[in-house]
Amino acid sequence: MRDSYGREITYMRVSVTDLCNLRCRYCMPAEGVMKKSHDDIMSGEEIIAVIESASELGIRKIRFTGGEPLVKKNIVSICRRTHNIPGINEICITTNGILLPQFAESLKDSGVERVNISLDTLSPEKYSYITRGGNIADVLRGIDSAIQTGFRVKINTVLIKGFNDDEIQDMARMTLENDIDIRFIELMPMAESFADGFISARKIFDSLPELEPLESDGVAKIYRLKNAKGRIGFISPISDSFCGSCNRIRLTADGYIKPCLHSGTEIFIRHKTKDEIKSLIINAVMSKPERHHLDATHITESSRTMNRIGG
Ligand code: GTP
Ligand code: 5AD
Ligand code: SF4
Repeated sequence: MRDSYGREITYMRVSVTDLCNLRCRYCMPAEGVMKKSHDDIMSGEEIIAVIESASELGIRKIRFTGGEPLVKKNIVSICRRTHNIPGINEICITTNGILLPQFAESLKDSGVERVNISLDTLSPEKYSYITRGGNIADVLRGIDSAIQTGFRVKINTVLIKGFNDDEIQDMARMTLENDIDIRFIELMPMAESFADGFISARKIFDSLPELEPLESDGVAKIYRLKNAKGRIGFISPISDSFCGSCNRIRLTADGYIKPCLHSGTEIFIRHKTKDEIKSLIINAVMSKPERHHLDATHITESSRTMNRIGG
């Protein structure tokens, strides 16, 4: 599928739940989310039906997101069934890592190839603050178990001024001994977002020792510290937007296709026949905007908090 700006759309991010076992300040309201009635959230069957239709239209990569995808009861079976859909050749998960010790093996067996894990700080106190009560030991165990299970692991670190900008060197040094990616991400101003925390990836780049440039990987520009086993990435949606090469659409847990993370447009896709689902996906792709309009004064046009989109 090509959108109206000629971009080929091959990647669908599937949010399976907006619930989460953490409460990150830039992502979710303190009180969490009102648990929706069972009927308002897509079942595993419905999610698989949308992925099947999407694959027939050229979607090749699926990333499961949340909220926290591992709190969805049947997540392993959803992954396994996705793995069996012809045309889908890459399945990934973005998780906070807390439940990985429990799930890593079964996810691997069900066909998931890569996991991206959120970790914004190495300090137990700061971790507890930013996640409103999380225990860093849990996510460190999760990262370990993902590596031990043989996943290719990427760590997502959202840059927050005055919170973690003094820790970037330490986090970057984790790549010296571990063959993982650490990606520093510019904070996007979402509904209810953590205000005033923006710091540009460029500033962080300049604070690190010399970095050897490698090929870009998806939305990230990739580098390596001298003699490091792993890689360092910068995701700069604000200061160096990657909309021009956008290849993705999103499916929300309550059954909307979002053509763009930051647009208010959403297309309801539940209770439809397969042909209807396919034509709604095509409509969504054709209504992808050329780019977002975020800057110092404009926040997202999407009315959702990040936990209801999945990043
Ligand atoms: P890879 O498959 O490993 O390349 O993962 P990914 O970077 O596509 O996914 P991940 O869930 O790890 O997201 C990393 C960061 O990129 C998060 O902060 C997302 O919110 C952000 N991100 C992902 N897709 C988009 C997008 O289309 N637009 C914008 N602006 N940000 C995005
Ligand atoms: N800006 C940038 N990244 C964000 N994430 C969540 N909220 C934001 C935001 N406002 C990241 C999470 C997770 C991924 C899905 O999106 O840290 O790694
Ligand atoms: Fe949960 Fe992830 Fe959002 Fe944090 S960033 S509240 S871990 S969905």
